[in-house]
Order: sequence, then C-alpha cells, then structure tokens
Amino acid sequence: MIWHILGAGSLGCLWAARLAAQQHTVQLILRNTETIAGYQQAPGVGLSDAQHQHTVYYPVSAQLADDPQPIKHLLLACKAYDAEAAIAQVTQRLNSDSLVILLQNGLGSQQAVQKRLPNTRCIAASSTEGAYLAAPFHSVLAGQGQVILGDLDTNARPQPQQLLETCNAAGIPCLWSADIATQLWRKLAINCAINPLTVIYNCLNGELRNYPELINTLCDELHSLLCGAGQSEAAQALQEHVWAVIDKTAANSSSMRQDVLNQRRTEISYIIGFACTQSRALSCHTPTLHALHTQLQDALLAQGLPTV
Ligand SMILES: NC(=O)c1ccc[n+]([C@@H]2O[C@H](COP(=O)([O-])OP(=O)(O)OC[C@H]3O[C@@H](n4cnc5c(N)ncnc54)[C@H](OP(=O)(O)O)[C@@H]3O)[C@@H](O)[C@H]2O)c1
Repeated sequence: MIWHILGAGSLGCLWAARLAAQQHTVQLILRNTETIAGYQQAPGVGLSDAQHQHTVYYPVSAQLADDPQPIKHLLLACKAYDAEAAIAQVTQRLNSDSLVILLQNGLGSQQAVQKRLPNTRCIAASSTEGAYLAAPFHSVLAGQGQVILGDLDTNARPQPQQLLETCNAAGIPCLWSADIATQLWRKLAINCAINPLTVIYNCLNGELRNYPELINTLCDELHSLLCGAGQSEAAQALQEHVWAVIDKTAANSSSMRQDVLNQRRTEISYIIGFACTQSRALSCHTPTLHALHTQLQDALLAQGLPTV
C-alpha cells in the first residue's frame, strides 16, 4: 500500500515506522522546506520500544502538502486543533477512492474534516497506544494499546478488510467498530471527567481518588449529556468506566496535564470545550462541567497557554 502521513509527531512516526517496516511505501507530508531539510539530516523515522532497548530507523521519504501525487491512504496524525487546516492543504490530492484515517483525540475535529471531504471515506480512530518523541521523527512506543477504527458517516459500507489486515500485519493493533461514535463519545466523557482535574490539581490520575464526590457529580452530568446527545450506549456504566480508568492509569499523567507541563497547547476545545458546547446546544443542565471548563481555562491562562 502507499501511505501518506500528515503530522510527523509521536503517533505519525509510530505508524510510519511500522508501515515502512512491512515494505509499504510511506511518504511523510511535512510543513515546509525547512522541516524537510531538518528531516533529511535525521537518519529516517526512528522507532524505539519503551525501554529503548531496540531502535530501528526507516528511510521514509518526505514531501510537501502541495506535491502533485494523488493520495490513496492518508493518515491524519496532527493535533485536533490543526486537523482542519492540515486537511485543507491536501484536499485537492484526495478523491472518492481515497481513504483518510483520523487519529485526533476528542470530538469536533473529525466532523470538521469530514465536512470538508464529502466524497472521501473518513475513518475515525480511537487509540489507546501511547507514544512520545525522543527526538524529532523518533517515536517511542511507551504504552501498548488498541486502535478502534470506524466510519464517521453512518451510511453502512463494507468493513475495509485490506486496511485492517495491513495494519495488524504491521503490528498496529486495529479493530473495526460499526459504531465508532459510541467509542469516541465514551472516551470523550472519560477524558472530561479526568483530564481537566489533573491539570487543575496538577496531579497524577490516581490522585483523583481524593475527589470522589466531584468525579461522581461530573459523571452524572456527563451521563445526562451523552443521553441527550443520543449516545445512551456510550453513557452506560460511565461512572464505573471512569473509576476503572483512574485505577488502571493511577500512575499516569494525563495527556492534557503532560501538554501543560511541557508548555504545549492542549486539546481543551475538542474535549471539555466540545462537551460544554453540546450541553448548551441541547439545553442540558451540567453546571459542574461548565464550572470545570472555566476553572481549566483559568489554569491554562495562569500558565500562559491558549484557553481554546
Ligand atoms: N501521542 C499519543 O500517545 C497519543 C495517543 C492517543 C491519541 N493521540 C492523539 O493523536 C493526535 C496526534 O498526537 P501526537 O502526540 O502524535 O501529536 P504531535 O506529537 O504533536 O504531532 C503532531 C504533528 O503534526 C504536525 N502538523 C500539524 N499541522 C501540520 C500541517 N499542516 N502540516 C504538516 N504537519 C503538521 C506537527 O508539526 P509542528 O510540530 O510543526 O506543529 C507535529 O509534528 C492528537 O489528537 C492526540 O491527542 C496521541
């Protein structure tokens, strides 16, 4: 298969390396000629295991977004807040035979991308793999996980068998879901209950056990929001899911807290910001959620970070 990867960060390089290892043709789409020049100084796309015992570099090519080559398989691996602008740069290279995989966390960016590509199949991913960059273009697979893929638009299409086989053969653990919206909404709700509080209290996930009443109130509000949004399956046993994630990831720092500690922009608008917008649109009563959003924005402001 020929793959284009737009967004050569932690996840983009993780996917690029594993696909290149299986002899797929992989092209990174980089921001500008300076980034390409910087990449050409690197030994290729690097991939290490969590303990850094094994590092392999793959000679992956790089190009600009305005390259004339049509795109058949595109992995959009940028942050949610960059997704719409990034896809706009390659829209003319996509057609009705193309397939786009969206790796963005949260909700909102996927719908914005699909709107820009009404004739292209957009597959949303919910990934629990954990990766970070040890150096530019050098990804470390820090946490094994699972990638759940599913069509964004609800018109039933056949499962993309070849895509799933290719990914799994490359060691990318993919499953297909006929209802990706449920996965994305459930993950959104869990992230809303956990991530903002870890920033506000500057704590590890497990330390949220100190705030049971607050978490349970948030879960109740998120439950009614999900039901109001027609996502009652995602709302099922939400509180139990949230506590299970807190226990399972007790020693972890949430991705949002990690962004703040690294002085990076967060994906707030695609997590709790999205939930609050939906809540207002549906006239849902979620006062604790709105207060948490404001508190989070204040905490970001105090760190000199964007509040959207
Ligand atoms: N990392 C994880 O473990 C993980 C796990 C699950 C989900 N996710 C989700 O996956 C998404 C990607 O995360 P990540 O950690 O891989 O992010 P990342 O390391 O920040 O990588 C994003 C990359 O996209 C590039 N980019 C953005 N706009 C671009 C454009 N128009 N043209 C070319 N390149 C562009 C960025 O370049 P610049 O540096 O120049 O901006 C950066 O290299 C996020 O939504 C994240 O929440 C990540």
